Amino acid sequence: MPQIPSPQITHICCIGAGYVGGPTSAIISQNCPSIKVTVVDTDAKRISAWNSPAALPIYEPGLEAIIRNQLNINLFFSTDIDKAIAESQLIFIAVNTPPLEIIDTDCSGRRRGAGADLSAVMECAQRIARVSTSSKIIVEKSTVPCGTSHEVGDILQKYARSGVQFQVLSNPEFLSEGTAVRDLQHPDRVIIGSALQTASEAQEHLKYIYKHWVPADRIITMSQWSAELTKLASNALLAQRVSSINSLSALCESLGADIKEVARGCGADSRIGGDFLRASLGFGGSCFHKDLSSLVWLCDSLRLTPVADYWHQVLLMNEFQTSRFAQRILSTINVRGARIACLGFAFKEGTGDARNTPATRVCRELLTAGARLSVYDPKVPADHILSMLTEEAVESTAANSARVDVGYNCVSVCSRALEAIEGAQAVVVLTAWPEFRCINWEQALQTMPALAHIFDGQAMLDHEYLQKLGFQVVSMGK
Ligand code: UDX
Repeated sequence: MPQIPSPQITHICCIGAGYVGGPTSAIISQNCPSIKVTVVDTDAKRISAWNSPAALPIYEPGLEAIIRNQLNINLFFSTDIDKAIAESQLIFIAVNTPPLEIIDTDCSGRRRGAGADLSAVMECAQRIARVSTSSKIIVEKSTVPCGTSHEVGDILQKYARSGVQFQVLSNPEFLSEGTAVRDLQHPDRVIIGSALQTASEAQEHLKYIYKHWVPADRIITMSQWSAELTKLASNALLAQRVSSINSLSALCESLGADIKEVARGCGADSRIGGDFLRASLGFGGSCFHKDLSSLVWLCDSLRLTPVADYWHQVLLMNEFQTSRFAQRILSTINVRGARIACLGFAFKEGTGDARNTPATRVCRELLTAGARLSVYDPKVPADHILSMLTEEAVESTAANSARVDVGYNCVSVCSRALEAIEGAQAVVVLTAWPEFRCINWEQALQTMPALAHIFDGQAMLDHEYLQKLGFQVVSMGK
């Protein structure tokens, strides 16, 4: 058990009950029984969902059990933001920082990428300063452009009551959706950045919290600028690997090579490693796009055009990959009037999050070409899928079953994979949910017309078996 220094922190709060704030607070409360953790948010519906473990606002394996154990013991969810601020010695800011409008994506050298909307972060800083009657440590956890912690410090100082001092730390979060509990419980590293002059004391307090469950050698301290850039850089480097393998998948399709074999061969080199070399439809989610756009924006702002071009290309490659896959479907079968089963919609397996999912783009291209879609995803709610695919606001009729007509197009959301496949001319795999491997494909084929196609956008199914059954298989990178 790691040694814990004298416990001075007894109350912390986290402003923002989202994908980062909720799970992070749960893990802290679980590992630090003597600390009261309060998660606050302006969204009363969201807070009420966190207070009902059976209906949590996000799907994250293992989270429900932790919330059940800690809720109202030392973990509280509340809309009373001012009270939580007032009683806390340390405050995490984990509010949403959505990307600002994305600028052009051509290679003309004009400004590209996008900054992030920091209004929620800055409002938090003002509110903390106005409410606080005692000095506090403020920890920036939202994903933010470089320099934000510095700005937060300025605002806190400007609005602070007399005698109240704030120390600002940057503590970026590296959890992945779908594995948040495991990532938080066993992080590869915890990064704590601080402005040099205020470094040691505040850092020690935050370290004190993490040392309850994280080995000391995994807690890395650095300057605020380095911490903020480490977050952007980590996501950019991961996204770059995905774009690299996806670029090679296009080459495989032309050469007759198989991207899975190539990835396995390259990944076996210990200097390269096998992670993030899975060819796919392209990366999605809230972080990779946002952080790359933010990085490109930053490079352009600093007039580092070749550097901006370099990272911009990772984004362009991603768009190319998704649209390449859609075009491959359209050039293989005539989809006009045909029903196509779309398996998966989330931006990756293990989550109900569909932000920036490449599935939207593929579905829209199919719809534009006149296809009718039956979509199945185990976790994304039907109304999310429908609202992302149609212009109209749609009311979901049941938790996971709804239907809407969009002009000549049609989208229906199904509650089972076989229901989506029944009668469809082709199956398109959009998300790598492991359960798709266990579909009774023999039974599925019997419900489909002759010359049934499977387009495996995640290169995840057993193609040899499917071909033996009689499917025409088209796979990413093969
Ligand atoms: C990412 C980072 O991994 C995490 O550290 C950071 O805190 C937030 O952003 P997340 O977006 O949840 O996490 O998912 P991740 O597992 O990184 O996947 C991102 C996208 O890349 C997904 O669409 C995924 O399907 C895709 N991907 C990932 C691939 O296409 N191939 C791979 O080999 C790996």
